[in-house]
Amino acid sequence: MENEPTTKRTFFSWLIMSAAGVIGAALAVPLAGYVVSPALKRRVQGWVNVGLVQPLPVNVPIQRDLVMTIADGYMEVSSVKGIWALRRENGEVTVYSPICTHLGCGYRWDNGDRHFKCPCHGSVFDLDGKVIAGPAPGHWIACR
Ligand code: FES
Repeated sequence: MENEPTTKRTFFSWLIMSAAGVIGAALAVPLAGYVVSPALKRRVQGWVNVGLVQPLPVNVPIQRDLVMTIADGYMEVSSVKGIWALRRENGEVTVYSPICTHLGCGYRWDNGDRHFKCPCHGSVFDLDGKVIAGPAPGHWIACR
């Protein structure tokens, strides 16, 4: 087999296999790009309407729900997210994530004590989001 002379049959056999390899690679590259590219895309972040500012009471946080559409790979998923919105005397509005910084439970506003309280492990936050008791680290995320 080592010194077998090249025949027309072996030449055409290699030619056909080479052509099949080139065609396979030409199809595989765009197909792989189509499959992988959604996972490598950066998420587009945009603004979300959370409602009017005027109905918000001053210095009393209000929980609002908003619907967000999130592109996750090939799918677009709409989900309802909660936020806490707080309007100050000067009209400035602060929006808090509803997730406790300790282990991610949802916290509530206690209007009697005027603190946010997490029922899971007892973290307490003041109106500015500062931790005043419990195991939660630092501040929670606030967007202005
Ligand atoms: Fe809130 Fe632990 S999750 S205190």
